[in-house]
Amino acid sequence: MDAHNTMFKALLLEKDDAGFRAGVTTLDTARLPAAGDVLVQPEYSTLNYKDGLALTNKAPVVRNWPMVAGIDGAGTVLESGHPAWKAGDRFVHNGYGVGETHWGCLAERARLKGDWLVALPAAFTPRQAMAIGTAGYTAMLCVMALERHGVQPAGPGAGEVLVTGATGGVGSVAVAVLARLGYRVVAATGKAAEADYLQALGASSVIDRAELAAPGKPLQKERWAAVVDAVGSHTLVNALAQTRYGGAVAACGLAQGADLPGTVMPFILRNVALLGVDSVMAPLTLRQQAWARLARDLDPALLERMTTEVSLEGAVAAAQRLMAGQVRGRVVVKIG
Ligand SMILES: NC(=O)c1ccc[n+]([C@@H]2O[C@H](COP(=O)([O-])OP(=O)(O)OC[C@H]3O[C@@H](n4cnc5c(N)ncnc54)[C@H](OP(=O)(O)O)[C@@H]3O)[C@@H](O)[C@H]2O)c1
Repeated sequence: MDAHNTMFKALLLEKDDAGFRAGVTTLDTARLPAAGDVLVQPEYSTLNYKDGLALTNKAPVVRNWPMVAGIDGAGTVLESGHPAWKAGDRFVHNGYGVGETHWGCLAERARLKGDWLVALPAAFTPRQAMAIGTAGYTAMLCVMALERHGVQPAGPGAGEVLVTGATGGVGSVAVAVLARLGYRVVAATGKAAEADYLQALGASSVIDRAELAAPGKPLQKERWAAVVDAVGSHTLVNALAQTRYGGAVAACGLAQGADLPGTVMPFILRNVALLGVDSVMAPLTLRQQAWARLARDLDPALLERMTTEVSLEGAVAAAQRLMAGQVRGRVVVKIG
């Protein structure tokens, strides 16, 4: 398809009296949202947890119908009315409600706001940027939040770092980055058979997530210097209760649940910090820093190891596998 062809392929989500439907269809570029000053050609997109929810209609992620799916995209700018972007530039996009309220990147064309885009780091191809995706960029935001708190791989206060949801997208990237930075990483997973995978990413040991999943005491034996938590609920509460004096927990996910059924004891008796991490509305400068850090601190060979690829036509089935907990690491979607 050339740049000016008016028809493009997209994964469209529809919901009406006939129910919910998700499928690849052909749309006219004239239908792209007017709220956007840059026309782009995504070469790759990805399936994040939230894409999985949207594509399977498991949670109310999509706010306007019909919706072109795809929270993330990476590819080439085709036309721009934004001063920072010109045709031919390579971009990466994450979040900002794309695929939720604004037509997304599981499509051969998207019209996005230039203010949302980050220049694709020279270190990455569009495929690699989508292998990272919102999940991997959020993992880096978690690492940076811990660093701002003063967590370090060596020296005073250094110790084991726990990563929960470890075989997932956020978890896999967090394990790989933290290990490369020199931390001793303990990976918590429900997939015992993936222990070799987690060790290959750099985990020094692997624990059963069941150890963290049930209600526990408000204060437990101090173990973690820091935690990256993608799971929430009792897992997050137990992680807080096991964090060492002065340590920090970066919380970004809710794979177990959105509840926080705990006490203030770790905060008021152990000076533990709970650091919230949001990727969707993160400011541009923080995004640029996170992408620069990923270019430096994530081994591309490990990124490849955690990645599987599907076609646009295969995205819905892959989303179903993701929601069934059958996916390891990251899924990229090749567009076109
Ligand atoms: N704050 C943000 O901006 C932001 C950005 C990206 C993602 N997130 C959130 O972060 C979470 C992880 O995202 P992701 O892309 O990594 O998803 P993912 O690839 O599906 O991974 C989630 C992992 O969590 C673990 N898990 C699943 N169900 C669980 C349960 N009931 N109890 C405990 N662990 C469970 C599994 O790992 P094991 O099998 O290894 O245990 C699973 O692989 C999601 O909740 C997502 O919404 C938030």
